[in-house]
Order: sequence, then C-alpha cells, then structure tokens
Amino acid sequence: MNIIIKKSKNLKGEFNLPGDKSISHRAAILLSISQGCAEVKNFLFSEDCLNTLKAMRIIGADIKIENGLLKIRGNNRNKIKDINSFIYSGNSGTLMRLICGLLSGIKGSFLIYGDDSLNNRPMERIIKPIRMMGGDIKSIYNNGCSPIVVRGKELHGISYQMDVPSAQVKSCIMLASILAEGKTEIYELEKTRDHTERMLKYLGYNIDVNNNIIKMECKGSLYSRDIIIPGDISSAAFIIGGCILAESSEIIIKDVLFNKTRTGYLDVLKDMGADIEIVEVRNLNNEESADIRIKSSRLKSVNINGDIIVRLIDELPLIAVLSSFAEGTTVIKGAKELRKKESDRIKTIIYNLKQMDIEAYELDDGMIIKGCSFKNTKRKVFFNSFNDHRIAMAFSLAGIVFDEAEVIDCGCINTSFPEFFKVMSSIGADIRIK
Ligand code: S3P
Repeated sequence: MNIIIKKSKNLKGEFNLPGDKSISHRAAILLSISQGCAEVKNFLFSEDCLNTLKAMRIIGADIKIENGLLKIRGNNRNKIKDINSFIYSGNSGTLMRLICGLLSGIKGSFLIYGDDSLNNRPMERIIKPIRMMGGDIKSIYNNGCSPIVVRGKELHGISYQMDVPSAQVKSCIMLASILAEGKTEIYELEKTRDHTERMLKYLGYNIDVNNNIIKMECKGSLYSRDIIIPGDISSAAFIIGGCILAESSEIIIKDVLFNKTRTGYLDVLKDMGADIEIVEVRNLNNEESADIRIKSSRLKSVNINGDIIVRLIDELPLIAVLSSFAEGTTVIKGAKELRKKESDRIKTIIYNLKQMDIEAYELDDGMIIKGCSFKNTKRKVFFNSFNDHRIAMAFSLAGIVFDEAEVIDCGCINTSFPEFFKVMSSIGADIRIK
C-alpha cells in the first residue's frame, strides 16, 4: 500500500486523537496484573497495542472490547497462569522489552519473537539486567536479538545504572521487579518517558521517583482503576507538522498527552518559529493532557542535541522533514539511538531527504540538513518507508509542499496510527491510498 499526498492548503479542524501508544501498552499490561476490574477509554487499537492485548490474554487476563471501550479484569500478579507459550510482538519494541521483564518472574517457558525489523533490534540491553535479577533469558541465536526464550524464575530486585537512555529497558526492569523479592533502584543518566512510574503510582504501587532515580519495593500490589488515555502526542506530531507546512491552515487538537518527557517536539517547533499555543492543561490519571492550537508557519533552522533528544526521539524523522522546509541549516547530534529504531532512521531519513534534492549529510549520531536546498517543488517526489511507520508518515507530509508525494509501503502506519489517512483527509489534506 502506497500513500499519495497532493499539495494541500486551508487545513482546518478541531478533533481528538486515539490514545498514546506508550500509555496504551502500559495500561494493558499493568491492569492485566492488577486486582479487580477497570475500563480504559481511548485505548489505541493499533497493531502494536493489539499484540499487547493478545499477549496479556495468553498469561490469563480477561480482556473485552465493547463499543471501543477496553474492559480488563486483572489476574492479580500472584495468580498468573503457569504456562508455556509463544508471544508474538509484531513490530513493537515496547511490547517485547516490557513483556520479557514480566515473563521473567512468571512460572513457565516463553518464546518471544517479532517481525523482521524487530528481530534485528538490540535486546542485550534487557537481557543484562534481567540476568542480574536472577532471570533465565536467552537470545536463541546468541546474537543479542529476538527470538528470545524466557524461563520464569524467582527474581530479586537490583540496583541498576542505565547505560542507554531507554524507557523500554527501564520499564522492563520495573515489571520484573513487581514479581521479585526485595527492592529495586534504577538510575537514569537522562530522564526518559515516565509513564510506567506514573501508572504504577496511580494504581497504588509503592514507588518513589526523585528526578532520575527510581526506588521501588518489589512484590507490591496493584489495584485496578479506570484509565482515560490522552491523545498520542507522537501521532499528533504529524498532523501538527502538516498544518505548519500547509498555507492558511489552523487546527486544534484536543486532549493530547502533555507529559514533559514527551514534549521536546513542541519546544523545538517553538524555537523554529512555529505558531503553536497550548490552550489548557489538565490532569488525567496522573498524566497531563492539553489542547494544542497550531497555525501555518514559516520555519527557521535549529540545533538539536543534549538532554532534549530523549524528549523527542520519535519525532526526529518529522523534524528532519520540517527542517528541509526551514530557512538555514539544522544540525541534529547525540541521536545515535535513531539507528536502533524500526529502521536505521539516520540512513532512512537521509535517503529520503535526497529524494527531494535536499543537501543533507549523515553523522554517526545525527545529521545536517540544509533547509530549502531543493531545486523546485513543482514535481512529484517518491519516498520509501523502509517499512518504518514514522518514516512513512513524516515523508508523506512533503506532498503538502511539493505538487505530489508518493510513499511506498505504508501498511506499517497501522502499527501506531491507523487513523492517519482519515484524520488528514478530515482536515482537508488531499491524501489517497494506492
Ligand atoms: C517507548 C520508548 C522509546 C520510544 C518508543 C516507545 C516506550 O524507545 O522510542 O517509540 O513506550 O517506552 P526506547 O526505550 O528504546 O528509547
């Protein structure tokens, strides 16, 4: 499936978006091991999160979907089924890394595997701490990647200094700790997204978070409570980017996740001169959400590096596209983790920028992009998604400025934002599927 976007202007609308992907995964997992029953509103029914629901059913959670509402009866972490099973994680690094932590403390043997992209992503980063906790976890080809075999064991808490900034690794350790004995302490060099910590607190778990230090009692209890998931800020990011690029446009996206560990993109857009206004911030089950107003804007280049990188890591493909339409040269550094995502995003971004004749250079840990260096916009440009959802959506937006853009292999968008086409066309973008 390919997406075609033609030059578009006058994008208008006021709407909500499906729930945040990171929070949806965590709601499905944590409510499945809580005591009691709870409802989740605005859960993201994308391929990644549906795979998480399947995995949680395998370990004994009772999950129903009624009129778009998710109802989960937790199995209480002490009564998880004793099973041997296969768990398919599809394209989702979050599911694979989080579930390996949980399964490590559950009786039984599990084979966890993913699609081609996921089976090539690094899993050594979770194997190491799980083994330190006493877990039995192995990459079956001994290459530090999935497929992974986990045999549940009695675990103990650890004191762990993170060596990569990763919320997935941090959450893997926290989930393993829920089933372990003792105490766990995690030290982060850079504070990554903190949704697991926030949701654990919301569900009554004994956890203490002080800047980059997390301390938790192991073997604590979780009590089911209803959760409303704010709109996915990483999906909103594409709609915001489209509105900025299109002439005479103004949209309002309501109830978008506004957690400071995720808002780096909005900060960078402001630095680039984008016309963005945060209309109202509210608290929703220990997370924040906001209404965001965006208008068409002329952008200027930025330098991005340091602590902000973890707060916008998933938005860098999009920032690269926006930088190519900005005045000046943008430099992105300190983003080596981009090479470990659904594709090597430094390579796939540079490849696609070149399709627009943009002067762009690959760095080991980032890139340099010379804004507005394309020769002309009165033509059709072709891009390759490399089966990476964020590359597909980011580059499709170039069609708003060029006469037309076609992105090849866009089925991957269903992993995170199946409503992308619907939302884009509802605000007036000229978008179709081929
Ligand atoms: C995620 C954490 C980040 C992010 C990913 C989702 C999560 O990955 O890139 O899209 O939900 O915890 P890392 O933990 O690998 O940085």
